[in-house]
Amino acid sequence: MIGVFDSGVGGMTVASAIEQVLPDKQLIYFGDLARAPYGSKSPETIRRYAIENTEFLISKGATLIIVACNSAASVASDILQSTFDQPVFEVITPAIDRAIAVSRTGRIGVIGTRATIKSGVYEQEIKRKRTECKIFSEPCPMLVPLVEEGWLNKRETKMITRRYLHPLKMKNVDTLLLGCTHYPLLKHLIQPRIGKRVKVIDSSHEVAKRLHDFLESRPELSRSLEKKTENTYYVSDVTDAASMTAQRIFGRKIKLNKI
Ligand code: DGL
Repeated sequence: MIGVFDSGVGGMTVASAIEQVLPDKQLIYFGDLARAPYGSKSPETIRRYAIENTEFLISKGATLIIVACNSAASVASDILQSTFDQPVFEVITPAIDRAIAVSRTGRIGVIGTRATIKSGVYEQEIKRKRTECKIFSEPCPMLVPLVEEGWLNKRETKMITRRYLHPLKMKNVDTLLLGCTHYPLLKHLIQPRIGKRVKVIDSSHEVAKRLHDFLESRPELSRSLEKKTENTYYVSDVTDAASMTAQRIFGRKIKLNKI
């Protein structure tokens, strides 16, 4: 089973991309809604939550873990990789590789939660892989609550998005990394505000492709992940807004099982 976790429903953008790329694989999702948001918590707390979430997914039968939360990936990937035997994928590296490949000018913008931006992981990794890049980061702390509330088309969300993107627009970035798995749900607002020529990188597609390629080279593991029942979605709290957002992401009704 492929186990995917996030602090809330944002990681469902990743689960949905995996379902599209690997429709025959069994997937289990955990959204830690009761403890969200992670982006404003300390690295120690996020690490503890990430370990607990991984343990939960493994207890349900996951044999491969996807950290579908940039806040958790930016501070907890190392500890998850060293603590657990199961392969651990995260959303940051595949997105960075894509940004590096498509950016012509090397001027790359990154938006994410406070925890992700503060970790500096995007700057460090991009610079390590392509030294001449100039990276411009903006924390966008208000976007996650707006997405979790389902305010995807409200005037206020448009205004806040414009405000957050303004400094990056002024820096003439040619590529923008969505460094939070909630943000693909706002891509329709982000793209026109950052400029239609800017390439907006959505990590959900990138991690799904990476997982697909990884499994192609491991047929045995790939076979063991084959689908036997419907995919299951667990959350630590159920809210109406979460159910609505889940339905919007998958384009069908999703049963959220509370643990
Ligand atoms: N979706 C998560 C991320 O990618 C975080 C949202 C939160 O702050 O909990 O960073």
